Amino acid sequence: MLRHLDGHFHVPADFGACFCFVGLKTNIYIRQKRKMSFRKVNIIILVLVVALFLLVLHHNFLGLSSLLRNEVSDSGIVGFQPIDFVPNVPRQAVDGRQEEIPVVIAASEDRLGGAIAAINSIQHNTRSNVMFYIVTLNGTADHLRSWLSSSTLKSIRYKIVDFDTKLLEGKVKDDPDQGESVKPLTFARFYLPILVPSAKKAIYMDDDIIVQGDILALYNTPLKPGHAAAFSEDCDSASTKVVIRGAGNQYNYIGYLDYKKERIRKLSMKASTCSFNPGVFVANLTEWKRQNITNQLEKWMKLNVEEGLYSRTLAGSTTTPPLLIVFYQQHSTIDPMWNVRHLGSSAGKRYSPQFVKAAKLLHWNGHFKPWGRTASYSDVWEKWYIPDPTGKFSLIRRHMEVSNTK
Ligand SMILES: *[C@@H]1O[C@H](CO)[C@@H](O)[C@H](O)[C@H]1NC(C)=O
Ligand SMILES: *[C@@H]1O[C@H](CO)[C@@H](O)[C@H](O)[C@H]1NC(C)=O
Ligand SMILES: *[C@@H]1O[C@H](CO)[C@@H](O)[C@H](O)[C@H]1NC(C)=O
Repeated sequence: MLRHLDGHFHVPADFGACFCFVGLKTNIYIRQKRKMSFRKVNIIILVLVVALFLLVLHHNFLGLSSLLRNEVSDSGIVGFQPIDFVPNVPRQAVDGRQEEIPVVIAASEDRLGGAIAAINSIQHNTRSNVMFYIVTLNGTADHLRSWLSSSTLKSIRYKIVDFDTKLLEGKVKDDPDQGESVKPLTFARFYLPILVPSAKKAIYMDDDIIVQGDILALYNTPLKPGHAAAFSEDCDSASTKVVIRGAGNQYNYIGYLDYKKERIRKLSMKASTCSFNPGVFVANLTEWKRQNITNQLEKWMKLNVEEGLYSRTLAGSTTTPPLLIVFYQQHSTIDPMWNVRHLGSSAGKRYSPQFVKAAKLLHWNGHFKPWGRTASYSDVWEKWYIPDPTGKFSLIRRHMEVSNTK
Protein backbone atom coordinates (compact mmCIF):
# COMPACT_ATOMS: atom_id res chain seq x y z
CA MET A 1 0.00 0.00 0.00
CA LEU A 2 2.98 2.32 0.20
CA ARG A 3 4.33 1.74 -3.22
CA HIS A 4 2.94 4.95 -4.78
CA LEU A 5 4.60 7.91 -3.15
CA ASP A 6 3.83 10.43 -5.87
CA GLY A 7 1.73 12.55 -3.61
CA HIS A 8 -1.04 10.05 -3.12
CA PHE A 9 -1.68 7.31 -0.73
CA HIS A 10 -3.57 4.36 -1.96
CA VAL A 11 -5.45 3.34 1.05
CA PRO A 12 -7.51 0.19 1.17
CA ALA A 13 -11.13 1.23 1.22
CA ASP A 14 -11.96 -0.29 4.56
CA PHE A 15 -9.64 2.02 6.45
CA GLY A 16 -12.06 4.82 5.73
CA ALA A 17 -12.08 8.45 6.72
CA CYS A 18 -9.43 8.40 9.40
CA PHE A 19 -6.77 7.41 6.92
CA CYS A 20 -7.63 10.13 4.38
CA PHE A 21 -7.01 12.79 6.98
CA VAL A 22 -3.75 11.22 7.95
CA GLY A 23 -2.81 10.91 4.29
CA LEU A 24 -3.00 14.69 3.94
CA LYS A 25 -0.67 15.30 6.85
CA THR A 26 1.79 12.88 5.41
CA ASN A 27 1.67 14.64 2.04
CA ILE A 28 2.77 17.90 3.60
CA TYR A 29 5.52 16.12 5.39
CA ILE A 30 6.72 14.58 2.15
CA ARG A 31 6.78 17.94 0.35
CA GLN A 32 8.93 19.52 3.07
CA LYS A 33 11.47 16.76 2.93
CA ARG A 34 11.54 16.31 -0.83
CA LYS A 35 15.29 15.93 -0.81
CA MET A 36 15.21 13.01 1.47
CA SER A 37 15.96 9.72 -0.11
CA PHE A 38 13.15 7.50 -1.12
CA ARG A 39 14.31 4.86 1.29
CA LYS A 40 14.23 7.17 4.32
CA VAL A 41 10.82 8.45 3.39
CA ASN A 42 9.69 4.90 3.06
CA ILE A 43 10.84 4.04 6.54
CA ILE A 44 9.32 7.15 8.12
CA ILE A 45 6.06 6.56 6.38
CA LEU A 46 6.07 2.96 7.33
CA VAL A 47 6.52 3.90 10.98
CA LEU A 48 3.80 6.53 10.68
CA VAL A 49 1.45 4.12 9.07
CA VAL A 50 2.04 1.49 11.69
CA ALA A 51 1.38 4.07 14.40
CA LEU A 52 -1.76 5.16 12.60
CA PHE A 53 -2.87 1.65 12.10
CA LEU A 54 -2.60 1.11 15.83
CA LEU A 55 -4.53 4.32 16.43
CA VAL A 56 -7.28 3.24 14.07
CA LEU A 57 -7.44 -0.13 15.74
CA HIS A 58 -7.72 1.55 19.08
CA HIS A 59 -10.38 3.90 17.79
CA ASN A 60 -12.37 1.06 16.27
CA PHE A 61 -12.13 -0.85 19.46
CA LEU A 62 -13.55 2.06 21.43
CA GLY A 63 -16.26 2.53 18.84
CA LEU A 64 -17.13 -1.12 19.01
CA SER A 65 -17.29 -1.18 22.76
CA SER A 66 -19.55 1.86 22.91
CA LEU A 67 -21.72 0.25 20.26
CA LEU A 68 -21.91 -2.86 22.37
CA ARG A 69 -22.78 -0.82 25.38
CA ASN A 70 -25.67 0.82 23.55
CA GLU A 71 -26.94 -2.52 22.42
CA VAL A 72 -26.66 -3.83 25.89
CA SER A 73 -28.94 -1.23 27.32
CA ASP A 74 -31.25 -0.90 24.33
CA SER A 75 -31.96 -4.48 23.45
CA GLY A 76 -32.41 -7.83 25.00
CA ILE A 77 -29.06 -9.48 24.46
CA VAL A 78 -28.10 -8.59 27.93
CA GLY A 79 -29.57 -11.68 29.48
CA PHE A 80 -26.61 -13.57 28.16
CA GLN A 81 -23.92 -11.24 29.40
CA PRO A 82 -22.56 -11.44 32.88
CA ILE A 83 -24.27 -8.78 34.93
CA ASP A 84 -21.03 -7.07 35.87
CA PHE A 85 -20.55 -6.19 32.23
CA VAL A 86 -23.75 -4.19 32.07
CA PRO A 87 -23.11 -0.56 32.89
CA ASN A 88 -25.53 1.18 35.15
CA VAL A 89 -28.04 3.31 33.32
CA PRO A 90 -26.70 6.84 33.56
CA ARG A 91 -28.56 8.80 36.18
CA GLN A 92 -29.13 11.80 33.95
CA ALA A 93 -30.93 9.58 31.44
CA VAL A 94 -33.76 9.28 33.94
CA ASP A 95 -35.20 12.72 33.95
CA GLY A 96 -37.95 13.85 36.21
CA ARG A 97 -40.26 15.03 33.45
CA GLN A 98 -40.26 11.62 31.83
CA GLU A 99 -43.46 9.70 32.31
CA GLU A 100 -43.23 7.30 35.20
CA ILE A 101 -43.81 3.64 34.41
CA PRO A 102 -45.45 1.94 37.37
CA VAL A 103 -44.53 -1.74 37.60
CA VAL A 104 -46.37 -3.78 40.22
CA ILE A 105 -44.75 -6.98 41.50
CA ALA A 106 -45.95 -9.13 44.36
CA ALA A 107 -43.11 -10.45 46.48
CA SER A 108 -43.72 -13.18 49.00
CA GLU A 109 -41.16 -14.03 51.63
CA ASP A 110 -40.51 -17.61 50.49
CA ARG A 111 -39.62 -16.56 46.94
CA LEU A 112 -38.21 -13.08 47.37
CA GLY A 113 -35.23 -13.91 45.18
CA GLY A 114 -37.60 -14.14 42.23
CA ALA A 115 -38.86 -10.58 42.62
CA ILE A 116 -35.28 -9.35 43.06
CA ALA A 117 -34.12 -10.96 39.80
CA ALA A 118 -37.20 -9.65 37.96
CA ILE A 119 -36.63 -6.08 39.19
CA ASN A 120 -32.93 -6.22 38.38
CA SER A 121 -33.62 -7.38 34.81
CA ILE A 122 -36.24 -4.69 34.21
CA GLN A 123 -34.08 -1.89 35.55
CA HIS A 124 -30.98 -2.82 33.59
CA ASN A 125 -32.75 -3.01 30.26
CA THR A 126 -34.44 0.37 30.23
CA ARG A 127 -33.64 4.05 30.40
CA SER A 128 -37.19 4.85 31.38
CA ASN A 129 -38.30 6.18 34.70
CA VAL A 130 -39.62 2.99 36.29
CA MET A 131 -41.28 3.02 39.69
CA PHE A 132 -41.59 -0.41 41.28
CA TYR A 133 -44.54 -1.06 43.53
CA ILE A 134 -43.53 -4.13 45.45
CA VAL A 135 -46.48 -5.70 47.19
CA THR A 136 -45.65 -7.72 50.30
CA LEU A 137 -47.16 -9.02 53.49
CA ASN A 138 -46.31 -7.37 56.79
CA GLY A 139 -43.27 -9.47 57.72
CA THR A 140 -41.32 -9.06 54.49
CA ALA A 141 -40.72 -5.33 54.12
CA ASP A 142 -37.53 -5.12 56.21
CA HIS A 143 -35.98 -8.11 54.55
CA LEU A 144 -36.80 -6.67 51.15
CA ARG A 145 -35.40 -3.26 52.05
CA SER A 146 -32.03 -4.63 53.07
CA TRP A 147 -31.85 -6.66 49.86
CA LEU A 148 -32.75 -3.67 47.71
CA SER A 149 -30.06 -1.55 49.33
CA SER A 150 -27.35 -3.80 47.87
CA SER A 151 -25.13 -1.91 45.46
CA THR A 152 -26.42 -3.43 42.22
CA LEU A 153 -29.97 -2.27 42.94
CA LYS A 154 -29.12 1.17 44.35
CA SER A 155 -30.49 3.04 41.35
CA ILE A 156 -34.01 1.59 41.44
CA ARG A 157 -36.98 3.61 42.59
CA TYR A 158 -39.51 1.67 44.58
CA LYS A 159 -42.32 1.71 47.07
CA ILE A 160 -43.16 -1.19 49.31
CA VAL A 161 -46.90 -1.66 49.56
CA ASP A 162 -48.40 -3.75 52.34
CA PHE A 163 -51.14 -6.01 51.12
CA ASP A 164 -54.05 -6.15 53.50
CA THR A 165 -55.19 -9.78 53.56
CA LYS A 166 -58.49 -8.67 55.11
CA LEU A 167 -59.50 -7.71 51.59
CA LEU A 168 -59.75 -11.41 50.81
CA GLU A 169 -62.01 -12.42 53.70
CA GLY A 170 -64.92 -14.49 52.46
CA LYS A 171 -63.52 -14.47 48.94
CA VAL A 172 -61.00 -17.30 49.03
CA LYS A 173 -60.85 -20.63 50.76
CA ASP A 174 -58.21 -23.29 51.14
CA ASP A 175 -58.87 -26.19 48.87
CA PRO A 176 -58.27 -29.38 50.87
CA ASP A 177 -58.26 -31.44 47.64
CA GLN A 178 -55.32 -29.51 46.28
CA GLY A 179 -53.59 -29.60 49.67
CA GLU A 180 -52.48 -26.04 49.10
CA SER A 181 -53.18 -23.01 51.20
CA VAL A 182 -54.24 -19.75 49.65
CA LYS A 183 -51.40 -17.46 48.62
CA PRO A 184 -52.89 -14.05 49.35
CA LEU A 185 -50.39 -12.11 47.26
CA THR A 186 -51.48 -13.83 44.06
CA PHE A 187 -54.68 -11.79 44.37
CA ALA A 188 -52.85 -8.48 44.69
CA ARG A 189 -53.27 -7.89 40.95
CA PHE A 190 -57.06 -7.65 41.43
CA TYR A 191 -56.51 -4.50 43.47
CA LEU A 192 -54.26 -2.47 41.20
CA PRO A 193 -56.11 0.86 41.61
CA ILE A 194 -55.73 0.53 45.38
CA LEU A 195 -52.05 -0.39 45.18
CA VAL A 196 -51.15 2.35 42.69
CA PRO A 197 -53.80 4.99 43.34
CA SER A 198 -52.16 7.80 41.38
CA ALA A 199 -51.40 5.93 38.16
CA LYS A 200 -53.49 5.98 34.99
CA LYS A 201 -51.71 3.00 33.50
CA ALA A 202 -49.64 0.26 35.09
CA ILE A 203 -47.87 -3.00 34.37
CA TYR A 204 -48.39 -6.04 36.54
CA MET A 205 -45.84 -8.85 36.63
CA ASP A 206 -45.42 -12.11 38.47
CA ASP A 207 -42.18 -12.68 40.36
CA ASP A 208 -41.14 -15.72 38.30
CA ILE A 209 -40.11 -13.72 35.26
CA ILE A 210 -37.13 -11.91 33.87
CA VAL A 211 -37.30 -9.12 31.30
CA GLN A 212 -34.84 -8.97 28.42
CA GLY A 213 -36.41 -6.10 26.48
CA ASP A 214 -37.10 -2.45 27.30
CA ILE A 215 -40.13 -2.30 29.58
CA LEU A 216 -41.16 0.90 27.79
CA ALA A 217 -42.18 -1.18 24.77
CA LEU A 218 -44.54 -3.24 26.91
CA TYR A 219 -45.88 -0.13 28.60
CA ASN A 220 -46.68 1.33 25.17
CA THR A 221 -48.88 -1.65 24.26
CA PRO A 222 -52.00 -0.06 22.77
CA LEU A 223 -55.24 -0.77 24.60
CA LYS A 224 -58.46 -0.56 22.65
CA PRO A 225 -61.09 1.92 23.82
CA GLY A 226 -63.14 0.33 26.59
CA HIS A 227 -60.48 -2.26 27.43
CA ALA A 228 -59.09 -2.15 30.96
CA ALA A 229 -56.21 -4.56 30.31
CA ALA A 230 -54.04 -6.33 27.74
CA PHE A 231 -52.95 -9.95 28.24
CA SER A 232 -51.13 -12.50 26.15
CA GLU A 233 -53.40 -15.17 24.73
CA ASP A 234 -52.73 -18.84 25.35
CA CYS A 235 -53.17 -19.74 21.67
CA ASP A 236 -51.02 -17.04 20.18
CA SER A 237 -47.48 -18.28 19.94
CA ALA A 238 -44.92 -20.95 20.44
CA SER A 239 -45.94 -21.15 24.08
CA THR A 240 -49.36 -22.53 23.23
CA LYS A 241 -51.26 -25.68 23.94
CA VAL A 242 -48.86 -27.19 26.36
CA VAL A 243 -49.87 -30.01 28.57
CA ILE A 244 -49.61 -28.77 32.11
CA ARG A 245 -48.90 -31.64 34.44
CA GLY A 246 -52.02 -32.97 36.07
CA ALA A 247 -54.19 -30.29 34.55
CA GLY A 248 -54.93 -31.46 31.05
CA ASN A 249 -54.76 -28.98 28.25
CA GLN A 250 -55.12 -25.66 29.93
CA TYR A 251 -55.35 -23.16 27.13
CA ASN A 252 -59.05 -22.55 26.80
CA TYR A 253 -61.95 -21.53 29.03
CA ILE A 254 -63.15 -25.05 29.69
CA GLY A 255 -59.75 -25.81 31.23
CA TYR A 256 -60.42 -23.23 33.96
CA LEU A 257 -64.17 -23.07 34.48
CA ASP A 258 -66.76 -25.68 35.35
CA TYR A 259 -69.18 -25.58 32.46
CA LYS A 260 -71.50 -27.97 34.25
CA LYS A 261 -72.44 -25.15 36.59
CA GLU A 262 -75.57 -23.22 35.69
CA ARG A 263 -74.00 -19.91 36.60
CA ILE A 264 -71.10 -20.43 34.20
CA ARG A 265 -73.36 -21.67 31.38
CA LYS A 266 -75.59 -18.62 31.78
CA LEU A 267 -72.65 -16.40 30.86
CA SER A 268 -72.72 -17.89 27.33
CA MET A 269 -68.96 -17.82 27.01
CA LYS A 270 -67.67 -20.19 24.35
CA ALA A 271 -65.87 -23.03 26.12
CA SER A 272 -63.26 -23.24 23.37
CA THR A 273 -62.25 -19.61 23.77
CA CYS A 274 -58.52 -19.17 24.25
CA SER A 275 -57.59 -18.41 27.79
CA PHE A 276 -54.96 -15.78 28.54
CA ASN A 277 -52.13 -15.63 31.01
CA PRO A 278 -52.59 -13.14 33.85
CA GLY A 279 -48.94 -13.26 34.94
CA VAL A 280 -48.04 -10.24 32.83
CA PHE A 281 -50.45 -7.52 31.85
CA VAL A 282 -50.83 -3.85 31.06
CA ALA A 283 -53.79 -2.09 32.65
CA ASN A 284 -55.63 1.13 31.91
CA LEU A 285 -56.54 2.05 35.46
CA THR A 286 -58.93 4.81 34.41
CA GLU A 287 -60.95 2.21 32.56
CA TRP A 288 -60.44 -0.34 35.35
CA LYS A 289 -62.03 2.02 37.86
CA ARG A 290 -64.77 3.10 35.45
CA GLN A 291 -65.83 -0.54 35.00
CA ASN A 292 -65.37 -1.46 38.66
CA ILE A 293 -63.18 -4.35 37.60
CA THR A 294 -62.07 -4.97 41.19
CA ASN A 295 -65.69 -5.27 42.36
CA GLN A 296 -66.50 -7.59 39.49
CA LEU A 297 -63.55 -9.84 40.30
CA GLU A 298 -64.51 -9.94 43.96
CA LYS A 299 -68.04 -10.93 43.02
CA TRP A 300 -66.75 -14.00 41.16
CA MET A 301 -64.39 -14.90 43.98
CA LYS A 302 -67.31 -14.93 46.41
CA LEU A 303 -69.50 -16.92 44.06
CA ASN A 304 -66.75 -19.49 43.66
CA VAL A 305 -66.45 -19.88 47.43
CA GLU A 306 -70.20 -20.47 47.59
CA GLU A 307 -70.73 -22.57 44.48
CA GLY A 308 -67.38 -23.92 43.26
CA LEU A 309 -67.21 -22.57 39.74
CA TYR A 310 -63.68 -23.42 38.72
CA SER A 311 -62.56 -26.46 36.80
CA ARG A 312 -61.76 -29.47 39.00
CA THR A 313 -58.50 -30.04 37.19
CA LEU A 314 -57.35 -26.50 37.85
CA ALA A 315 -53.67 -26.63 38.74
CA GLY A 316 -52.85 -23.93 41.21
CA SER A 317 -53.82 -20.62 39.73
CA THR A 318 -57.17 -19.70 41.26
CA THR A 319 -56.55 -16.14 40.15
CA THR A 320 -57.08 -16.91 36.48
CA PRO A 321 -60.79 -17.93 36.39
CA PRO A 322 -62.29 -14.65 37.69
CA LEU A 323 -60.12 -12.72 35.24
CA LEU A 324 -61.23 -14.95 32.38
CA ILE A 325 -64.86 -14.20 33.20
CA VAL A 326 -64.53 -10.48 33.73
CA PHE A 327 -62.31 -9.90 30.69
CA TYR A 328 -64.14 -12.28 28.34
CA GLN A 329 -63.83 -10.70 24.89
CA GLN A 330 -63.00 -7.46 26.68
CA HIS A 331 -59.24 -7.23 26.59
CA SER A 332 -56.44 -6.21 24.29
CA THR A 333 -53.41 -8.39 23.59
CA ILE A 334 -49.72 -7.99 24.25
CA ASP A 335 -46.93 -9.13 21.96
CA PRO A 336 -46.37 -12.88 22.53
CA MET A 337 -42.64 -12.26 22.90
CA TRP A 338 -43.50 -10.27 26.02
CA ASN A 339 -44.71 -13.38 27.80
CA VAL A 340 -42.77 -16.43 26.67
CA ARG A 341 -44.08 -18.80 29.26
CA HIS A 342 -44.27 -22.33 30.63
CA LEU A 343 -40.54 -22.36 31.30
CA GLY A 344 -41.45 -23.81 34.68
CA SER A 345 -43.95 -26.42 33.53
CA SER A 346 -41.31 -29.08 33.07
CA ALA A 347 -37.66 -29.51 33.82
CA GLY A 348 -36.91 -30.04 30.13
CA LYS A 349 -36.03 -27.41 27.59
CA ARG A 350 -38.93 -26.58 25.34
CA TYR A 351 -37.45 -23.69 23.37
CA SER A 352 -34.34 -23.23 21.28
CA PRO A 353 -31.55 -21.07 22.71
CA GLN A 354 -32.16 -18.56 19.90
CA PHE A 355 -35.83 -18.24 20.80
CA VAL A 356 -35.08 -17.84 24.49
CA LYS A 357 -32.54 -15.17 23.62
CA ALA A 358 -35.00 -13.30 21.40
CA ALA A 359 -37.77 -13.33 24.02
CA LYS A 360 -38.52 -9.96 25.62
CA LEU A 361 -39.82 -11.62 28.77
CA LEU A 362 -39.31 -15.13 30.09
CA HIS A 363 -41.88 -16.59 32.46
CA TRP A 364 -41.27 -19.66 34.63
CA ASN A 365 -44.92 -20.39 35.39
CA GLY A 366 -45.41 -23.94 36.56
CA HIS A 367 -43.84 -25.97 39.33
CA PHE A 368 -40.19 -25.76 38.38
CA LYS A 369 -39.01 -22.35 39.50
CA PRO A 370 -35.57 -21.10 38.49
CA TRP A 371 -34.53 -20.68 42.11
CA GLY A 372 -35.44 -24.29 42.82
CA ARG A 373 -33.43 -27.45 42.41
CA THR A 374 -34.69 -28.44 38.98
CA ALA A 375 -35.59 -25.86 36.39
CA SER A 376 -35.02 -25.23 32.73
CA TYR A 377 -32.94 -22.24 31.66
CA SER A 378 -32.01 -21.47 35.26
CA ASP A 379 -28.65 -20.24 33.96
CA VAL A 380 -30.44 -17.48 32.02
CA TRP A 381 -32.37 -16.46 35.14
CA GLU A 382 -29.40 -16.62 37.45
CA LYS A 383 -27.58 -13.87 35.58
CA TRP A 384 -30.10 -11.46 37.09
CA TYR A 385 -30.15 -12.91 40.54
CA ILE A 386 -28.46 -11.00 43.35
CA PRO A 387 -27.57 -13.01 46.45
CA ASP A 388 -29.45 -12.13 49.61
CA PRO A 389 -27.21 -10.04 51.90
CA THR A 390 -29.14 -11.30 54.93
CA GLY A 391 -28.58 -14.91 53.90
CA LYS A 392 -32.23 -15.84 54.52
CA PHE A 393 -32.88 -16.76 50.91
CA SER A 394 -30.60 -19.00 48.92
CA LEU A 395 -30.82 -20.81 45.66
CA ILE A 396 -31.34 -24.52 45.79
CA ARG A 397 -28.67 -25.91 43.54
CA ARG A 398 -27.13 -29.26 43.05
CA HIS A 399 -23.43 -29.07 43.74
CA MET A 400 -22.55 -29.83 40.13
CA GLU A 401 -24.78 -27.11 38.76
CA VAL A 402 -23.25 -24.56 41.05
CA SER A 403 -19.75 -25.33 39.89
CA ASN A 404 -20.90 -25.22 36.27
CA THR A 405 -22.41 -21.79 36.51
CA LYS A 406 -19.52 -20.25 38.33
C1 LIG B 1 -48.83 -10.30 59.72
O1 LIG B 1 -49.92 -9.80 60.49
C2 LIG B 1 -50.87 -10.78 60.83
C3 LIG B 1 -52.02 -10.11 61.57
O2 LIG B 1 -51.90 -8.74 61.56
C4 LIG B 1 -50.27 -11.84 61.67
O3 LIG B 1 -51.22 -12.85 61.99
C5 LIG B 1 -49.11 -12.46 60.94
O4 LIG B 1 -48.45 -13.37 61.74
C6 LIG B 1 -48.13 -11.39 60.48
N1 LIG B 1 -47.13 -12.01 59.65
C7 LIG B 1 -45.85 -11.82 59.82
C8 LIG B 1 -44.97 -12.57 58.91
O5 LIG B 1 -45.41 -11.07 60.66
C1 LIG C 1 -57.80 4.64 29.27
O1 LIG C 1 -59.18 4.67 29.37
C2 LIG C 1 -59.72 5.96 29.36
C3 LIG C 1 -61.21 5.83 29.65
O2 LIG C 1 -61.80 4.95 28.75
C4 LIG C 1 -59.41 6.62 28.03
O3 LIG C 1 -59.94 7.93 28.01
C5 LIG C 1 -57.91 6.67 27.83
O4 LIG C 1 -57.59 7.16 26.56
C6 LIG C 1 -57.32 5.28 27.99
N1 LIG C 1 -55.88 5.39 28.02
C7 LIG C 1 -55.07 4.60 27.33
C8 LIG C 1 -53.61 4.87 27.47
O5 LIG C 1 -55.47 3.71 26.60
C1 LIG D 1 -69.15 0.82 40.60
O1 LIG D 1 -69.24 0.76 42.00
C2 LIG D 1 -69.81 1.89 42.59
C3 LIG D 1 -69.75 1.77 44.07
O2 LIG D 1 -69.13 0.61 44.48
C4 LIG D 1 -71.24 2.07 42.07
O3 LIG D 1 -71.79 3.25 42.61
C5 LIG D 1 -71.23 2.14 40.56
O4 LIG D 1 -72.55 2.17 40.08
C6 LIG D 1 -70.52 0.98 39.97
N1 LIG D 1 -70.41 1.15 38.54
C7 LIG D 1 -70.60 0.17 37.67
C8 LIG D 1 -70.41 0.54 36.23
O5 LIG D 1 -70.87 -0.97 38.00
